[in-house]
Amino acid sequence: MKASILQLLQSENTVVSGEALSEKLGVSRVSIWKHIQKLRENGYGIESTAKGYRFVSRPESVFPWDFPGREHLVRHYPDTVSTMDIAREMARNGCPDSTVVVADRQAKGRGRLNREWHSSDGGLYFTMVLRPELPPVFSFRINFAASHVLATTLRQMFAVNARVKWPNDILVDGRKLSGMLSEMEAEGERVSFINIGIGLNVNNDPAVEGSLAVSLQELLGRKTSRREILTRFLDAFDERRKKPLDSIIDEWKQDTITLGQRVKIVTVRHEFEGRAVDVDSTGALVLQLDDGSMESVIYGDCFHTAPQTDQQESKSIWNSRTNST
Ligand code: BTN
Repeated sequence: MKASILQLLQSENTVVSGEALSEKLGVSRVSIWKHIQKLRENGYGIESTAKGYRFVSRPESVFPWDFPGREHLVRHYPDTVSTMDIAREMARNGCPDSTVVVADRQAKGRGRLNREWHSSDGGLYFTMVLRPELPPVFSFRINFAASHVLATTLRQMFAVNARVKWPNDILVDGRKLSGMLSEMEAEGERVSFINIGIGLNVNNDPAVEGSLAVSLQELLGRKTSRREILTRFLDAFDERRKKPLDSIIDEWKQDTITLGQRVKIVTVRHEFEGRAVDVDSTGALVLQLDDGSMESVIYGDCFHTAPQTDQQESKSIWNSRTNST
C-alpha cells in the first residue's frame, strides 16, 4: 500500500486528495492517512495542504515500499547481525524465490573464508534467497550470473570500471568495491535454496578494510542512492535469470580482470601461484603453475600478485588463447 501511495503521489507530481487516493487504491481515507503518517515517521516529506497530499522528498532508504512490484519480497532491517542468518532461516521456512533481506547495518557481517564484513551506515548489505531450477552441481552458475550482472549494472549506472576478480569480487582499479558470499542447501538432486549475500560500499567508509577497499562515494565524489542501485541490480538479475545460464561463464569472462594475470590462490589447505589461464565450465580457476603443470581450483582467495598495467593486454592474451583452441 505504501509503495502504491508513493507511486501515485510521485506520478501525479502535484497535490492528490485523500479521496482520490482512497478511491484509486480501494481503501478508506483513514487508512491512507495512517500510511502517510507511517511514511513521514520513516523520513518521507509529504505535505498536507487544503487540497490533499503533496510529495516533497524521500529519505535515502531501502524500505520494502521503495521497491514497487516487489515490496512483498523485500524485508528491511535497520540493524541486524547478518542478513545471511535471517535469509537462511526464511529460506528454510519456505519463503518465495527472490526474497531479499536488506539491512542498513550489520553487527557481524560475514565475509568469505570466515572473515568479517564491516557493515557501517551507508553501505548496501543484502541477501537474496534464490530457488533456481538447477541441479546442485550447477549451482555455482547463479553466483557468476550475480557478479556479472552487478559489475555490468555498476558500469552502466556510474561509468566506473567495475570488473570481476575470480570468483565474485567487484574491483575498480584494483580496489574492492563489493564482495559476495553464497550458501546453498540441497535435497538430493534438487537445490532447495541458494542464498547470495552482497556487500557493496556505497556511501560508507570502507577504510577499515584497508586502502584496498573503495566506495562509490569516494570514486564519484558524491553520495548515491542504495535504493536505485538495488532496484537496477534486481531488475537486471531477474531478466538474466529468465534466460538459460549455460553461457554465463563466457559472459562473466568478458568482465573479469583475473584471466591472463599472475595470481596467488589461498585455499584452506594449499597455496598455488601461477598464471590464471581459464575458468572452466565448473567455475574453477585454471592455473598454469611455474613448472608448467595445470591446476584447477574450485574455491579460495585470489590475489593478483603482479599489478595489472594494461587490462586490454590480459584480455587479448585470454582471447588469443581461446581462439587458438
Ligand atoms: C567477501 O568478499 O568476503 C564477501 C562479503 C559478503 C558480505 C555480504 S553483506 C550482506 C551479506 N550478509 C553478510 O553477513 N555477508 C553478506
